[in-house]
Amino acid sequence: MILKSIDEVRSQFPFLERKVNNYPLIYFDNAATTQKPKMVLDAMLDYQINFNANVHRGVHTVSQEATLLMENSRKKIQKFINAKHDHEIIFTKGTTEGINIVSHSFRNILKKDDEILISYLEHHSNIVPWQILCQQTGAKLKVIPIDLEGVLDLSAFEKLLSEKTKIVSVTHISNALGIINPIEFIIKKSHEFGALVLIDAAQSIAHKKIDVQLLDADFLVFSGHKIFAPTGTGVLYGKEKILNSLPPFHGGGEMIESVSFEKTTYAPLPFKFEAGTPNFLGNTLLGTAIDFVNSIDTDFLKSHEEELLSYATLELSKINEIIIYAKDSNRANVISFNLNLPGVSAFDVGMFLDKYGVAIRTGQHCTQPIMDFLKIQGTARASFSIYNSKSEIDNFIEFLKKTIKFLF
Ligand code: ALA
Repeated sequence: MILKSIDEVRSQFPFLERKVNNYPLIYFDNAATTQKPKMVLDAMLDYQINFNANVHRGVHTVSQEATLLMENSRKKIQKFINAKHDHEIIFTKGTTEGINIVSHSFRNILKKDDEILISYLEHHSNIVPWQILCQQTGAKLKVIPIDLEGVLDLSAFEKLLSEKTKIVSVTHISNALGIINPIEFIIKKSHEFGALVLIDAAQSIAHKKIDVQLLDADFLVFSGHKIFAPTGTGVLYGKEKILNSLPPFHGGGEMIESVSFEKTTYAPLPFKFEAGTPNFLGNTLLGTAIDFVNSIDTDFLKSHEEELLSYATLELSKINEIIIYAKDSNRANVISFNLNLPGVSAFDVGMFLDKYGVAIRTGQHCTQPIMDFLKIQGTARASFSIYNSKSEIDNFIEFLKKTIKFLF
């Protein structure tokens, strides 16, 4: 069945029926994590009842079935992001681990004075692993600046690129401001200098069509829990040739071909990067979550999400006391704002809205450099998913007005 309307989509999410403080829950914290559709919940129970056996390790029937389920999930992910090979899909526990696998792999490859380029819009998870790598290798971290709206300065980016640039690691969509970066341009320009490019797709995977071959991304990472799968799941995509040239991250079972005390040889991709018992339940459910996304009509998904964002932006901008960040830039699914009232923090707004059952995130959103740049402590952030409705936005606006009235 193809889901074509908001009612059809909402009916798949039992979580949306719950109440908070006696109000129907309005869940606008989807950039932090998404809810799980029935398809994933049912598959979770079915798996635990019928298929719970360790993968790649047994000749017995259930182990073979579990292996097949997980490997089919890898194929679904391959297809979803249009990777050339299924072995280019490495299961991780999330975006952060994906970035750390890549940064760790370059410990013995980068040299002093090589350069790594990131942007001002990065989440801490796309800053700190590179800082650690720089400390270990003597490489230098360079940062693409942003303008006052938060948009990347592309001419500064081009000036920062040089033969010294070895890795460029940028987010597709900013988790704090929702700005969509021109990753096609960034990848193309970086490749002209021979740099490898990692795309952090944590915020885009559930909202944008991603084709890693078309993009020509060298690495792409995302988390399963932002696309309706359980936490502790995620993917590192890497081009076959590059992944083959990198050393493994963790050592242990499953990632080896043969082990002796004198010498160990490693398993081929993807297993070289998947030491230990994998999260076979979660990895399988990530494939089910992708089945769910594929069951939503693509035109509806795109137009509904665009409508939610533009409607929320329009309605919020009618309120005089509100400052919206990156308001006029190319954004997706996120609206970050503050009240223009001294002494009132984003935290206060979030607390008051919670009284009406509205869940938003407040604070720095793990992006302290952006907050420092904007000279603010944090923002209130509403972030939408395909199951949110315009009437929820109407209620959110009404509760926000009540909050403002109270705080003023
Ligand atoms: N990175 C997630 C967020 O932006 C947790 O909320």
